Amino acid sequence: MIQLNVNGRAVEVDADPETPLLWVLRDTIGLTGTKYGCGMALCGACTVHLDGQPVRSCVTPVAAVGAQLITTIEGLSPDRSHPVQRAWIEIDVPQCGYCQSGQIMSAAALLAKTPKPTDADIDSAMSGNLCRCGTYQRIRSAIHRAAELAGDQS
Ligand code: FES
Ligand code: FES
Repeated sequence: MIQLNVNGRAVEVDADPETPLLWVLRDTIGLTGTKYGCGMALCGACTVHLDGQPVRSCVTPVAAVGAQLITTIEGLSPDRSHPVQRAWIEIDVPQCGYCQSGQIMSAAALLAKTPKPTDADIDSAMSGNLCRCGTYQRIRSAIHRAAELAGDQS
């Protein structure tokens, strides 16, 4: 059995240690907000946080997680009140939506580290998150808006 901490909850899973974290989250634990895109760390759809750092769960063996705290899109806030979620809703960022949980998790990690990111900071932090619908401009606007909303909260 493998012990994990997912969204603040201790979870014990029976999985092969090499299983990608993505499949444990989706299939074993039932947290399907994290998406599968490429399986090769090329698209960012599967992004979750380990101790606040964005990682590609499709290439992270579950055994490599250890005691690190896992946060998925479901755990970002209990009620969509995270500044990134509020900004995403306000600016109506998603089109098909498939890439968006990964985008949001990367954006949230960026803002935790860099509360007032420049366009260059955003482009650098978000470059590994692809959007086939081309929502990049709205993503950039929403990250700036989330920075404002987070500033208003503090
Ligand atoms: S599914 Fe993990 S990066 Fe594409
Ligand atoms: S909103 Fe469709 S892939 Fe990004």
